[in-house]
Parts: sequence; C-alpha cells; structure tokens
Amino acid sequence: MENPETVKKEIEKLKKEIRGADYKYYVLSQPEISDKEYDVLLKHLKSFEEKYPQFLTPDSPTQRVSGGILEGFATVKHEIKMLSLDNTYSVEELKDWETKIKKMLKGNFQLHYVVEPKIDGVSCSLIYKSGMLTVGATRGDGEVGEDVTANIRTIKSIPLKLIGQNIPQLLEVRGEIYMDKKELEIINKVRLKNGEQLFANPRNAASGSLKLLSPSLVAKRNLNCLVHSFGLSRGAEFKTHRDFFEKVKNWGLRVNQHNKFCTNLDEAIDYCMKWEGKRDALSYEIDGMVIKVDDYKLRDILGTTMKSPRWAVAYKFPAHQATTVVEKIEFSVGRTGIITPVALLKPVECAGVTISRSTLHNFDEIKRLDVREKDTVLIERAGEVIPKIIKVISSMRPAHIKKIQVPKQCPVCRQPISKEKEEEVYWYCINANCPAKIKQSLLHFASRTCMDIEGMGESVIEELVNRGYVKSLADIYNLKKEDLLKLPLFAEKKAINLIAAIEKSKNRPLSRLFYGLGIRHIGEKAAALLTAKYNNINKFFTLKTGDLEKIPEMGPVMAESVVNFFFLRQTRKLINEFKNAGLNLQEEKRQIKTTVLTGKTFVFTGELESLSRDEARRLVESLGGKWSSSVSKSTDFIVVGKDPGSKYKIAKELHLTILNEDEFKRLIQEKA
Ligand code: IVH
Repeated sequence: MENPETVKKEIEKLKKEIRGADYKYYVLSQPEISDKEYDVLLKHLKSFEEKYPQFLTPDSPTQRVSGGILEGFATVKHEIKMLSLDNTYSVEELKDWETKIKKMLKGNFQLHYVVEPKIDGVSCSLIYKSGMLTVGATRGDGEVGEDVTANIRTIKSIPLKLIGQNIPQLLEVRGEIYMDKKELEIINKVRLKNGEQLFANPRNAASGSLKLLSPSLVAKRNLNCLVHSFGLSRGAEFKTHRDFFEKVKNWGLRVNQHNKFCTNLDEAIDYCMKWEGKRDALSYEIDGMVIKVDDYKLRDILGTTMKSPRWAVAYKFPAHQATTVVEKIEFSVGRTGIITPVALLKPVECAGVTISRSTLHNFDEIKRLDVREKDTVLIERAGEVIPKIIKVISSMRPAHIKKIQVPKQCPVCRQPISKEKEEEVYWYCINANCPAKIKQSLLHFASRTCMDIEGMGESVIEELVNRGYVKSLADIYNLKKEDLLKLPLFAEKKAINLIAAIEKSKNRPLSRLFYGLGIRHIGEKAAALLTAKYNNINKFFTLKTGDLEKIPEMGPVMAESVVNFFFLRQTRKLINEFKNAGLNLQEEKRQIKTTVLTGKTFVFTGELESLSRDEARRLVESLGGKWSSSVSKSTDFIVVGKDPGSKYKIAKELHLTILNEDEFKRLIQEKA
C-alpha cells in the first residue's frame, strides 16, 4: 500500500477507530474491544506514522506523550476568570441559599437543579479550537494559571481531538483532574520504598503529578478527568446544564455518571445526603456535592460575585476526622538515614479504621503544629490514605508539657545527626554503620527487585544485625551455614536455602545490584539506565556530574547523588568486598564480534518449535541484538513461528525482513 492517498486514508481510519475505542473505554466505561486489539490498532498506526511521517499530526493518539523534559511552565491568562464555589455545611444553609436566589429571580417558578459530586482534585481549563486540544491549564489564582498542556495530553480520558457532530469553533471546558484512591496507594507504596515523601491525599498527588516536568512520568501516574463546566465558547449553544453535559459527552469528553437532575431542592438535598453516606464507595475522593441551577438563562440573571457564581453552591461533607491523644513521639531512621518523627496515638476509630500512629514527616512539621507528647490532637484521614494530624487542641493541653526538640543524636546508634543543607527540612543520621540504616539498607538490597535473596526478610535481618554478624551489605557474603544455625530462627534446611540464595544473588545483573546500593534519588529505572550506559561498576568511580547529566532522564540532583556516593571511601571498600566475594560487577558482556546482529532489532511472533520466547530473547541479546515487542519500520528482523499474530501482517505491509525459525537459527549460527 504505497499510494500516499490510501495510506493517509488508512491512518485517518485507524485514528478514528482508536479515538472511538478511547471514548468507549475512558468516557463511557464500556469498552468494546480488548486491550490486545487496541494495542494492535495503536501499533499499526505507529508503524504507519513512522513510515509516513508526513501524515503525523499532533492530535494523533500516538502523540500523547512528548519525549522531552519541560523547562518549566508558561502562564496562561484565563479569558473568563475561574471562580470557586461558596461552601455550605448544613441543610439550613442550602435552604437559605435557595431563598436568596429565588428572591433575586423574583419569578414564581420551580427551580431545577443538577447535583454533582464535588471531586477533590485539581481544577483545570481545556481549550479546544476547532475540536483540537490546544491548551490545558491549571486554575492558578483563578485569573492566571500554568500551561500544563504537555502533561494534560497524557491523560487518556481527555480527548486530543473532539469527536462527533457540530464541533464548536472554540470551547473551553473546565473540569477536575484527579487520581483514584487505589492509584495513590500504589504510588505511595513505591515512594515509601524509595524513601520519598508520601502524598498526603489524592489531591496533592494529582497536583504534584500535573506539575512534573517530564510528561512521560505524568503518563505513568494514571490521572483522570471529569468535566463539570465551561468558560469561553464560540459556535456552541447550551440552554441548560443537562444540555451542556449531553453535548460535551457526545464530543468525547468525560462527565460524571453520578450527576443527577433534580426537580426541586428537597430532591437535591436527598441526593447530597445519599452520597454523604456512601462517599467511600467511589474510586475517587469527594469532599461534598455541588448543587447547580440547571437553566442557563436563570444563571445569567443570577450572575456571579467576585469569588463565586450565585447559581451554584457546594454542600461540604464533614471531613473524616477524630480527636485523640499523642501518647509518645518516636523517631524512626530510614535507609538513607532520614530521621522521621512519628506520633504514637491512643487508638481511635476514624472512617472505619483504627488509627494508632501518624507520621509527622519532619521537625518543621512538629514546629508548625507545635505538637507535644500528651497533647490532644485532631486527626484526619484524607482520601483514605495516611492519617494526618491537623491541629493541636490547645485548650486541652495539660500543664507543663515540654516542646519536642530535635534529638542531638540518632535514636538508634547515638551518633550525632545533621542536615545536608541548612534550608533542608530533614535531619540525617550520618553514621554509615548505624544499625537502623543497615537493617533498612539490607532489606532493600535483599528485596526481589534488587538482589532477590529469598529468605532474607525483616526478622532474619533484625537478628543478623543485632548479633553483629552483618555490619555492612558485603557481610552477607561472608555468612556461613554455621553462623545461621546459631540463630533461633534457623534449622538446617532453612540455613542451607538462605546460603544458596545468597550465592545465587552473586550473578544478579549489575542494574539490580546498582539499585540495591540504595543511592539516594536512584530508583529502579535510573539504575537500569546508568548501568546500560556504563556497564562496569568501576567506571562510576571516574564519572563527573556532567557525564551523567548527558543521559536524558538524569537530572542534576540524581547525577550529584551518584557522584557523591562513589566519592565515598566506604563505597570503594564495599565494591572491593563485593569483588572479592565474586559478585557480578559488570553488565553481561555483549559479544561484539557478532557484527551483523549488533544493534539489530528483532521481533518475534507466533510460537517457535525449538525455543521458548525467553530463550530466543536471551540468544538475541547475548549476540548484541535488541529485542522488541512491537513492529515498526525500524524493526530489522521479524521471526515468525506457528500461528503468528497481527505483527506478521504489519511486517508484511512494512516490507520487513521476515525469517522463519530455521532461517533465524541459521542466522544465529552464522553470526555466533
Ligand atoms: S463547578 C465555580 N462542579 O471545586 C465554578 N466544581 O471551589 C464552577 N469542583 O475549583 C465549578 N467538582 O474545580 C464544579 N462537580 C463540580 C466540581 C467542582 C469539583 C471544584 C472546582 C473548583 C472548586 C470550587
């Protein structure tokens, strides 16, 4: 199919199909095709666009994530101010609101309302020009927001191009960008593991994600959007709010399925109460309901104040709060040495869960709250996540209780603690041999994503460190079966298994070992990137920050952290000990002599008779080739087994070199 016109048509057809599938999946929540089928369509489109870049347009579903790192965000002036809502907290206040607006309207008619969940996310403005998403911005102060278009484009429920009929010339919809509660839990788990500060609630997580400078990272945060209102519009006419929702939904925008039309205020209040009782059933956090006048003509009469529209009001739910007493404030020491104050609370129930501790994050937070042992505090569980101390109830403070001081020493090893920089909020234990740090470091080092030492869990590590058998990561490799048998936790078999697991870990890939070193700011992905570029650990002792910053994903903070880590004398000692213990300290050597395969990309489809997928992959990689799961015009070879999938069809269309199993094996033998 080389005729450009035919190709163009095919590309348009694929884009339309993908947009339609996105709409059904993300907007209507009624997917019609499987994920696999969707992937095939997307891959198909991608390979066409790679081959015919002249037909690539920014509204293509393949163009959600732009590769680069943003320098910062420009500002966007909102042509129509983004207002906020007046809050009410009781049925009486709602009735007062209706009385007030009825008085303003003077007429003797029945007011109709639309009642919507008030999503606890980040307000956004999305501008569509002739149906194309051109700007995505935050609310900011209501008049000027930040241009976060590149990040907004990664959100799958926001169409890059509107679908359907009668698309307006200009439409600025406004909505809420939010993160599901489950998603936040997953992200916080990873952040906890990496020693990063946790997001206190889904709103902070959504807002933090939207301000990331790397759209590819934003894409991973699985943000979502629900449209609730509009600003500018040209070429669109909405008579009522219901009419607005109906139209924007048909244009592919996502609106809340729980929005309800009510014919009077009592009905609207009942609906608010219903959701107050079951707010937890939603996958996202809501902090109330919004009642809006349905008729836009009436809205015009009512108008707005400087701050909020008169035609809408928020009914706020009481927060998930409780009061309890701080029994003790403890300090815990993390893997990187950060000292975190934790409040141990008199157990109290809050939103169905018993809460007995709450992190205070750092000493600045203690100062801000002025929280002390024996204080009565108000706690809140926002977004069903970590409980947070909101404030001290000072009227209940017992006499003569002392302020909390930053400890002079590490609570575990009793060595002095310090801050890295004066302006930093964290205090660190800087003793490399601090048992608390060692325990946490060991736990990370032995974990599945690092050295994968099965059987080396928390209790084993606790014992090994407490008894002095292990004082550094390298000591693991000096352990003998006899040592383990001295511990009450071990019988013969368990000890043999652990020694075998330790032995096996010596062959873990360098990227895993590198991640296991626990270098601050270096996560799993960064470790893989670094070791792919520098495939021998010794190279890291000679690198400068400038070398590392050349790697696209590497920022200055990460680069500095790596260089500082390898500057330490104890790092040199550790790596030497690893070397003496026989650990793999370089990425598997590629056989450079296999010239023709080096750097060539292979794709496999269908079942091979003599090799599993994994074996084939390792074979290709060991000969310097690259493995890919999707076909594109840059694929060098596609190997086709029994019952090949759609990749085969695409490969034929792209005129790629197609090999059967025998031809593949011959190629390998020739080159090996
Ligand atoms: S309507 C005020 N509807 O709540 C102009 N707002 O304090 C129209 N919000 O920042 C807003 N859910 O982003 C509206 N269903 C909903 C909403 C909602 C959440 C946010 C909105 C605004 C804040 C108002």
